Amino acid sequence: MHQVVNVELADRRYPVLVGAGVRSELASVLPADVRRVAIITQAGIPWDADPGRDHTRIEIPDGEPAKSLAVVEDVCRQMAAAGITRADAVVAIGGGVATDVAGFVAAVYHRGIRFVSVSTTLLGQVDASVGGKTGVNLPEGKNLVGVFWQPTAVLCDTETLSTLPHREMQCGLGEVAKYHFLGGEGLDELDLAECVAACVRIKADVVAADEREGGRRAILNYGHTLAHAIETAGDYDLRHGEAVAVGLVYAAAVARNLGRIDDARVAEHHRVLSAYDLPSTLPPQLTDDELLALFSRDKKAIDGVTLVLDGERGVETVVGVDDEVLRASFAAVR
Ligand code: GLY
Repeated sequence: MHQVVNVELADRRYPVLVGAGVRSELASVLPADVRRVAIITQAGIPWDADPGRDHTRIEIPDGEPAKSLAVVEDVCRQMAAAGITRADAVVAIGGGVATDVAGFVAAVYHRGIRFVSVSTTLLGQVDASVGGKTGVNLPEGKNLVGVFWQPTAVLCDTETLSTLPHREMQCGLGEVAKYHFLGGEGLDELDLAECVAACVRIKADVVAADEREGGRRAILNYGHTLAHAIETAGDYDLRHGEAVAVGLVYAAAVARNLGRIDDARVAEHHRVLSAYDLPSTLPPQLTDDELLALFSRDKKAIDGVTLVLDGERGVETVVGVDDEVLRASFAAVR
């Protein structure tokens, strides 16, 4: 039994299948005219999926360093050597790193070929694999080079979560915590497959309303401004989702200091993080000055620091947040 959530785009829709064992649907979700497949995965991913046609398997390095332009070049060269054409497809098997790199490769190889994700981590299933954001990092920051390239289908196989190390699970739960404040109240009472499907439904609705992040889609970055600053500042012992959790507490403090939310709503942020056993404090080495400087390099920062903040109308983008408020709010995560 699996659930299907459709992502409705302006010109087409694609399905996200959620459930135990859905990786076995790979051959059926690939368009019938796809002749060959380049499977892009990582050595550390203990799962496979059968595309039901001739395929070549390409392994990228493990971990976040694989999200680089050098790896993209290497993968494209292997695909060219294997004779992958425009009539073929890329399949990613893995977490956010594999799907981000493979999606970017699919977008640029021969100016774009079809792409299916088999997502094997909680973070990938509730966020990275759905919605068409692809890309790689630069030394100057995360995800600074990328394109929107929507998949043909996404398979979120919840069976694969059974082998996920505890920290990887926590990483995904940081994104799940975010969805509590984007209309997902009560997510912590659902079983895992229902929770994944509910998060995908919220994300699909946001993407359908604003595929290319002209506005509303930015709410999916709730908690991410501080998270990206922590990740860019150094190699701290915080995974992405854990950094997002700290970012959610910080965003709640900024919203409280601006009078946008009350103490009860701040307490709700803490309750959700405790329910998932997520951290709520910064690595102590990080200074306020360093973080503020990184905020202004954030992709959203066009007219001063822009944050995604909770408020009476729900979570929304707020442009030009005052430096003093930003600075004072760090106390909440110290
Ligand atoms: N991860 C945020 C987005 O897909 O827009």
